[in-house]
Amino acid sequence: MKSFFGVDYYPEHWPIEMMDSDMDRLVDLGVEVVRIGEFAWHIMEKREGEYDFSFFDMVIEKLKKRGIKVIFGTPTATPPAWLINKYPEILQRDENLMPRSFGGRRMYCYNNEVYREYTRKIVTKLAEHYKNEDSIIAWQIDNEFGHEGSDICFCDTCKEGFRKFLKDKYEEIENLNKTWGTVFWSQTYNSFDEIPLPLKTITHHNPSMQLDYRRFMSKSINEYAKLQVDILREVLGNNAVITTNIAGGYFDKNFDHKEMVKHMDFASYDNYPVWGGLKEPITPANIAMDLDFIRGLKRKNFWIVEELMGAQGHTIIGYLPRPNQAKMWAYQAVAHGAQSILFFRYRTATFGTEEFCLGIIDQDNREGRKYKEVKEFFSDVKKYKDLLQSPIKSEIAFLYDYDNIWAWKIQPQSTAFNFKEEMLKIYTAFYKYNTHIDVIDAKDDFSEYKVVVLPVMMIVDENLKNKLEEFTKKGGIVVLTYRTSIKDRNNNLYLGKTMPCNLNQLTGIEVEEIESLQEGQFAYADGKYGRTKCCVMREMINSKGAEVIYTYEDKFYKNKACITVNKFGEGKVYYIGSSVDSDVLSSLAKEIIMEKSIEHFETPFGVEVYSRYYGDKKYLFIMNHTEEEHDVLGIKLMPYDSRIIEVK
Ligand code: GAL
Ligand code: ZN
Repeated sequence: MKSFFGVDYYPEHWPIEMMDSDMDRLVDLGVEVVRIGEFAWHIMEKREGEYDFSFFDMVIEKLKKRGIKVIFGTPTATPPAWLINKYPEILQRDENLMPRSFGGRRMYCYNNEVYREYTRKIVTKLAEHYKNEDSIIAWQIDNEFGHEGSDICFCDTCKEGFRKFLKDKYEEIENLNKTWGTVFWSQTYNSFDEIPLPLKTITHHNPSMQLDYRRFMSKSINEYAKLQVDILREVLGNNAVITTNIAGGYFDKNFDHKEMVKHMDFASYDNYPVWGGLKEPITPANIAMDLDFIRGLKRKNFWIVEELMGAQGHTIIGYLPRPNQAKMWAYQAVAHGAQSILFFRYRTATFGTEEFCLGIIDQDNREGRKYKEVKEFFSDVKKYKDLLQSPIKSEIAFLYDYDNIWAWKIQPQSTAFNFKEEMLKIYTAFYKYNTHIDVIDAKDDFSEYKVVVLPVMMIVDENLKNKLEEFTKKGGIVVLTYRTSIKDRNNNLYLGKTMPCNLNQLTGIEVEEIESLQEGQFAYADGKYGRTKCCVMREMINSKGAEVIYTYEDKFYKNKACITVNKFGEGKVYYIGSSVDSDVLSSLAKEIIMEKSIEHFETPFGVEVYSRYYGDKKYLFIMNHTEEEHDVLGIKLMPYDSRIIEVK
């Protein structure tokens, strides 16, 4: 797939008389592709069965005259009012069993058969209508699955579906009772029909049950997405190029993202480093980790179909990106593997919920600073299309597992715990040295990496354990952190095993006791790289052969280790028994990077360098994420400056 640059257009938001001049301006801006259609169901089917694609026919005709390609979005994120009024049971129910009202978006239940049927109809009609339309280069399914809280439903259809899901999984009710441990608090079920939804109760539902509910939601959402993929492939044939736009907050959602894009041609991302209410953007490392996660989904380059340009927000507006800052984020995105980018959005809407989601052009319709930045970005980056399509090779991988993430959501164990923050803390330590990092599913093959990091991996099954042992034996370095391997796949603890369960040999340690540390509560440890604060959680570790590199300072635990490293086969396993200071993590990261001779660059804080290779050529993407000037590699960088340079 080639590289394309463009914008999210929404021609239906403007008077038709503006269309020609708008499109001429798209040409001037350097736009090669626009995304249209997502959210426009009512334009395509005003009343039930009255399909009419003439508006988009006209749009596409005009775009074609100007050589602009199209990504067409299926409109299912916003069902029309006539449909919801006719079948109100389509609406999701929240945990108080209240239906979610028509008026926002994504309020439909993924399992509702009526909605699935109407989805089939509109997607089929749409695909049939544009079957021979060559200017449509890709299809986007729906819009941001699971976003804005739309990833959970408690309606009757979901209740029935959940029971069926459990019956398929456990076959006999006794198996379920045993696996969940329902003997606890007299929750034993006599039949699958007695099983409740995890609605509000007094205290909390059974952790195994809650994990199964999230898996069921994941299956529901992914099945619904797949239904659309199947229709498009059936109608359009194998040449159809299909994607979906993944939203931020991917670790907070109840669906396995890798599973979703498995049937699609590439993953797409909506990159918003800052949004409503935020006083400042998320950190450069956080943005980078998001991009690396998206690239990891299919382990290849991806698209960004919404790249922020203006400040955003529905009711509260977020931080205003400084001159050249949003442009720099676009450079960062291409550096990390976005081979195509569309900016959100061409022009700010003057009505609707998103009046304050500012575009490249504001409502005054003048070509201002943002227009100039996008135009410059397009003209520069188009010179590097081959480079942007080249694969990225990383020697470090961060491994995640959705069951593990959900298990943490169900039982965070400390008020200070946040999965993504904990992962980001260690990621940042490696990011600081401008290394390439893949963020991938722990079920993937990771044997080719030099280093794998598994932050807070509570669930380590037999398969992962074996892979980790193999990997280390052959010389790999593994980094584990607190609470590793305390649970099985059913979200239960292990009877008769010492933590990290099944990994005592690999790590050379035993965890004797743990202490949960709440927000603002700390312990201290000292060792190789100086004193550190310990937060979130700490483990009192006994070495069973591992070298101790940090021990606690306080009276009762000063003989207990906090950080250890163990030789295993040709490799090593680091075990970090608490959420320790970033400086200590960076020192450990550097030690590992040096030992494994991993490509890296030392740069001033906030200046990012990312290497890319194409043929025998090497390039560096340089991004100044700060408002200060910097001299890096002999180049003077202005605030928020970004460059692509070839190095000899
Ligand atoms: C995205 C979404 C768009 C629009 C945008 C506003 O999350 O896909 O439809 O809502 O945010 O910033
Ligand atoms: Zn439902």
